[in-house]
Amino acid sequence: MTRYAHITGWGMAVPERVLTNQEIAQFVDTNDSWIQERTGIRERRIASPEETTGMLATQAAIRAMEVANVRPPDVDLIIVATSSPEHLFPATACLVQDRIGATNCGAFDILAACSGFIYAIDLASQAIRTGSINTALIIGAETLSRLVNWRDRTTCILFGDGAGAFIMQGSDESGGVLSSLLRADGSGGDLLSIPAGGSHIPASPHSVGNGLHFIQMNGREVFRFATRVMAKATEQVVEAAGLTVEDINLIVPHQANYRIIESAARGLKLPLDRFFINVERYGNTSTASIPIAICEAVEAGRIKRDDNIVVVAFGAGLTWGAAAVRWTGPFPSEKKVYPERYQTLARARSIYRRLLRRVEGWFYGRR
Ligand code: ACO
Repeated sequence: MTRYAHITGWGMAVPERVLTNQEIAQFVDTNDSWIQERTGIRERRIASPEETTGMLATQAAIRAMEVANVRPPDVDLIIVATSSPEHLFPATACLVQDRIGATNCGAFDILAACSGFIYAIDLASQAIRTGSINTALIIGAETLSRLVNWRDRTTCILFGDGAGAFIMQGSDESGGVLSSLLRADGSGGDLLSIPAGGSHIPASPHSVGNGLHFIQMNGREVFRFATRVMAKATEQVVEAAGLTVEDINLIVPHQANYRIIESAARGLKLPLDRFFINVERYGNTSTASIPIAICEAVEAGRIKRDDNIVVVAFGAGLTWGAAAVRWTGPFPSEKKVYPERYQTLARARSIYRRLLRRVEGWFYGRR
């Protein structure tokens, strides 16, 4: 029996704090009209010092499970796509697993920059189709504001914080992810990078003093690359799904720059209203931009059951990717579940396991 991977739940979480272009213009040499004209961005959300990537990811995950009516113990796999993980390791996905009480799953992060959520859709749908798992929680989550040099006007205007999540489930009914495409070109890795903090340039007074832990970008080259790949990747997944561009109800592109989306629309010879755009309110939230946009598109009634949609993204790596999806929505279920209630239990379980580990340590003479 052929298995299909459906998107059955979606959720988003953004910090409350709004940072406007006018506010940025108070600390770097820029202005609202330049930013709006060149990027389409008006404002973005910025995490408070207490908010972390894992916390935003957890909130978005709980909301997605509520929509899908799925309990955390029924999740088989958690994938967090992020460019701003809480640590190099452990994976942010493991922090989410512990916080939501997903006691029967594997969890890992993927790093494909802004294309990360497309990579997660592809990986989760492959695992579901093979029958290896039935329910995946995939999340795109970022606190990029921590990695931005707030004195560099060419990058600090672009990025924002937030998270979005999907529940994906298997079924014998056709639909869901129809096709997907992942691509990379590492020869362009230097065009957009955070040079230090990894094993190549470990943290040192020199790396910190030279700002090598911040995002560095050749904006013009990234722009050229993005406009080249967006329309082509869309056409490729549409064709692989056996559809034509005319069959696509809505394209949800990575929200990096209004002009890049305009150029993709021109490339596909489609009117701009066939694209969902919310970059003006969130800026570029990297891996979170597509699931956040999907949540808002569903909320606005622009994605309905059985619609054909395309998600398409590009990012550092360089990476790019796209997926064609027939929209499903939640599977029918008899009993309502309350995923958020598992968090208290999860916290108690986490404390208990830490204590147990400590007691075992004493018992075996490790302390
Ligand atoms: N305010 C005012 N002026 C500025 C600003 C600013 N914030 N930033 C740059 N400028 C100036 C430049 O210094 C330059 O001045 P000069 O001509 O005197 O040298 C002038 O504006 C034009 O600069 P450009 O870089 O040519 O501007 P451009 O029109 O290309 O826009 C931008 C810059 C918005 C960064 C654009 O190149 C872009 O969006 N690139 C893609 C970036 C992107 O999407 N990155 C995310 C990838 S996804 C990921 O993986 C994270």
